[in-house]
Amino acid sequence: MPVTLTINGQAADADPGLTLFDAAERVGVRVPTSCVRNGKCKECVVEVSTGAELLSPRTSAERHLDGRFRLSCQAHVVPGQGRVECHTMRRGHMRIERHAFELPASRHRPLLDPAVTRDGDWVLLDGQPIERAGGPIHGLSVDLGTTTVVLRLLNLETGELVADASFENPQRFGGSDVMSRIQYDTQHPGRLLMRTVAGYLTHAIEDLPVDPRSIYEVVLVGNSTMRDLFFRQSVYSIGQTPYRSITEIDLAEGRRDSTSLTQTGLRSLLPIHPRARVYGGPIISGHVGADAAACLLAIDLAHEDRTVALMDIGTNTELLLGNRHRILAASCPAGPAFEGGAISCGMPGLDGAIESVRIEHDGTFAVGVIGGGRADGLCGSGLVDLMSELRRTGRMNEMGRFEDGSDRIDLTTDGRVFFTESDVNELAQAKGANVAGLQIVFKQFGVRFEDVDRFYLAGGFGRHVRTDAARRIGLVPNLPDETIVQVGNAAIEGATIALLSTTRRRELEALVRRVEHCRLETDPDFFDVFVEGCQFRPVDSHVSASS
Ligand code: FES
Repeated sequence: MPVTLTINGQAADADPGLTLFDAAERVGVRVPTSCVRNGKCKECVVEVSTGAELLSPRTSAERHLDGRFRLSCQAHVVPGQGRVECHTMRRGHMRIERHAFELPASRHRPLLDPAVTRDGDWVLLDGQPIERAGGPIHGLSVDLGTTTVVLRLLNLETGELVADASFENPQRFGGSDVMSRIQYDTQHPGRLLMRTVAGYLTHAIEDLPVDPRSIYEVVLVGNSTMRDLFFRQSVYSIGQTPYRSITEIDLAEGRRDSTSLTQTGLRSLLPIHPRARVYGGPIISGHVGADAAACLLAIDLAHEDRTVALMDIGTNTELLLGNRHRILAASCPAGPAFEGGAISCGMPGLDGAIESVRIEHDGTFAVGVIGGGRADGLCGSGLVDLMSELRRTGRMNEMGRFEDGSDRIDLTTDGRVFFTESDVNELAQAKGANVAGLQIVFKQFGVRFEDVDRFYLAGGFGRHVRTDAARRIGLVPNLPDETIVQVGNAAIEGATIALLSTTRRRELEALVRRVEHCRLETDPDFFDVFVEGCQFRPVDSHVSASS
């Protein structure tokens, strides 16, 4: 049998000598590129899951790639027998949360006083003419996450949402979490992570239904590492204790007056107007970045009399707690387990991921699969459901041990999707980090969980997780349904508010300065609350408000 090749699940020609890029093109799979397939742009990365030995050796253009990752314009099939399976960095239809729901700010008519305006034939930025052009003027808001990227195209004269788009962050060849991306960027010259994501953003922008040159401003938010990588800042200091962005260090030493960043459209490598401004929202402190800052705007914390909390569960979980008088923030290094990373059959929210699980009376598993087809693995909400069901039926104890003495549970009859005790350990540690963050932030603020009026669960994971399951295993505080609000992508909402209103943007700049950053690892209770948080049981306030 000759070599067979599948790219993004599609059978492709595997003639010896044919590059993976050309094979993909023949079956209509689009591989990002902005060079002449000569190894220069580094955008055409693919992940080879099977049959790497049936491909040509790495070329010098691929020195920056390890493990399963190859440049598709460099790798070609060699004569032999077997199967090659690979994926572009966009692995398929990923479930990415693009919308926000039930936010206090979204209940009011948003302010519309953008930085880009029109005066007759002229387009102005901050009142200064930058281009003579007719037609509508547009802006982009971008949430550049470690795992996913979301963008929205807005008409800056009407405030209307024209289009939106999302894709999986292609930087995963540099690792799945911020620490590995920092290490990657530090060890590989050439801003490869930035250039790759800029390439993908370029294609997304070119697919929008407007002339990209009519985009005159971009507001980009993301965690400190993602944002700084995009703005070509050194991220080395974010990876070393005390984990501070270069902009935070400069602010503390008086060399700048804000942690926000700006650059021109030209420098950003995006196909927008070259004199456009790309504004990177201010970061709060440490790993609590511009995405968390944008959430402050989205939940309108500057005008909030009630005490509210926001938790965005992800590789780095962000926590915000406060009201218009005082705000605390923290970042919990949970790792990628709840996004399916480091779990035997874990996967992101792609088609084929089990997203819901129920254990029937006869002990069998009823699973819900994204896309409705064959189950290939478990995504975050499926993992939470599974552990909740194992607890509900007594098949797993609070310590995360399977009661029947086994160390593996099969979810599909063919044994393709399974779950092990070491997976439980990974999830326990991720949960422990999140719970430790919650306990310490609430303790430092001096309130108990039940004292908050709203507990916003933000992000794609927070939107899709079943709150009763999350409560049962102690991933979120033991609060009533009416207090927990699943708000979806609050960060893109905040970025959009900042794009449409310079007033709100100034408010954000002022607000981040008032946020107190809790450095969890320095709290004397950290270890105790972490260990307790690793257990699978409902979590109540550890420390009373008066202690
Ligand atoms: S297509 Fe540009 S590096 Fe492969």
